[in-house]
Amino acid sequence: MAVLAPSILAADLTQLGRELVSIEEGGADRVHLDVMDGRFVPNISFGVPVVRAVHRATRLPLDVHLMIVEPERWVAAFAEAGAGGLTLHVEATPHIHRALQSVREQGLRPGVTLNPGTSLAALEPVLDLVDLVLIMSVNPGFGGQAFLASALDRITQLTLWRAERGLKFEIEVDGGVTSATAPDCARAGADVLVAGSAVFGAPGGAAAGCRTLLNAAQRRGD
Ligand code: DX5
Ligand code: ZN
Repeated sequence: MAVLAPSILAADLTQLGRELVSIEEGGADRVHLDVMDGRFVPNISFGVPVVRAVHRATRLPLDVHLMIVEPERWVAAFAEAGAGGLTLHVEATPHIHRALQSVREQGLRPGVTLNPGTSLAALEPVLDLVDLVLIMSVNPGFGGQAFLASALDRITQLTLWRAERGLKFEIEVDGGVTSATAPDCARAGADVLVAGSAVFGAPGGAAAGCRTLLNAAQRRGD
């Protein structure tokens, strides 16, 4: 059964402590934090101090998605701030292999991801180094975009590679995940669903948004 990682990019940042309590009540499994530098993606979000504040405000593990150039320069700082997992883009560094090793050495769970326009083959050399592979189902940089269905074939391919190679990484999907798209993601093999707008923009609040998504993910239709 898929678990849920709400992205606080879509939260009311003036009420962040309450939003975190709300997603815990709604059954979220971890918190997804989207770090953007205005260079790797055309948007700036937040950095180390916000990760540290969220770590102090919740018991949920922090799933930190770095959309920044040269992420290897920041591994130690995010580890110190309380990140649980650190997910790096293959496009963001010429040394993804070494960068993922350094995430492991810092005691964090290494994750790797790629943009929708990057071939899945770019992940193959590092699949045995990671605890998580994140499939982007939008172009990174902004919340609230429409789900790209091409992500489903990628999730299916990854589940095959994982089985063939006897690996154990989790498969996470991020972008445009709603109660309409979550069942397809779960059916394709996603273990972790990231959702921003569908959780924090839910009419009944974030706890209700979590419950709706988790229920939808169980309606896999198989
Ligand atoms: C996009 C981020 C996503 C984003 C998801 O760059 O990686 O985590 O917050 O937002 P929604 O769920 O609104 O598509
Ligand atoms: Zn993300």
